[in-house]
Amino acid sequence: MKAKIRKLQNIISGTPTTDGDGVTMTRLIGSPELNMLDPFLLLDAFETDQVNDYIGGFPDHPHRGFETVTYLIAGQMRHKDNAGHEGVIEAGGVQWMTAGKGIIHSEMPEQQAGLLQGFQLWINLPASEKMSAPAYQEFPADKIAVDSSIEDSVIRIIAGQTDNGISGPVKNNFVNPLYMDISLAAGQVFKQSVDGTDNAFIYVLEGELSINDTQQKISSRQLGVLSEGTAIVVKAKGDTRFILAAARPLHEPVARGGPFVMNTKAEIIQAFEDFQNNRF
Ligand code: FE2
Repeated sequence: MKAKIRKLQNIISGTPTTDGDGVTMTRLIGSPELNMLDPFLLLDAFETDQVNDYIGGFPDHPHRGFETVTYLIAGQMRHKDNAGHEGVIEAGGVQWMTAGKGIIHSEMPEQQAGLLQGFQLWINLPASEKMSAPAYQEFPADKIAVDSSIEDSVIRIIAGQTDNGISGPVKNNFVNPLYMDISLAAGQVFKQSVDGTDNAFIYVLEGELSINDTQQKISSRQLGVLSEGTAIVVKAKGDTRFILAAARPLHEPVARGGPFVMNTKAEIIQAFEDFQNNRF
């Protein structure tokens, strides 16, 4: 069957915001510009070498009903939670946390100076899994799979599989996620097969991509939402680094309440009540 190559559907520049204790960031998903891209509920990009813009970190806060994924490009963050997990994520490392029925955690910079850069991605859980036990998957940079089949380029696979059959370490049976950090040398082309109806986006950290060698482009610090289709084909204009994510949409009702994402308003009220009564 001939591949249907995805087109660029729209460009999101994001909204500057602060979260946690005053951490500056750009909200790319989860803002009026793009409320969600089912099952992606939120994407924050943080990138600053101004210590006052990150030193407050993200002190203790709860989550219920979805997964939080922290991927660091530069710097170090220490995470800690009320289930006894603690560790430091460094550049190129990922923490993939399934909040399930509830967790309280903190993520604090483990540095007093220098660049802190990375992403926080929220991925929804199906209704049947929202009250499951919390779970963790954490991988340092050297445990992230690498596909070096494209000359002078590196594909780092956190989740999902490249067309060469190289799979990332993260396991997820809910939405078949693909999450890759790709550095393409100028002029190189990257192709990736995907389920035709999965939602997909690309965020360019540096450089510029053209979609399937057309006039459609995604530039530095832009998020491009892709149309449906069975293949993604991009070409690097100059040396380009980008994040590619795709996942199966849940098509379920979404009720948001700050750090909780459930299916109904009543479940959100219950979440606040459970949290306030120390049931997390
Ligand atoms: Fe969090």
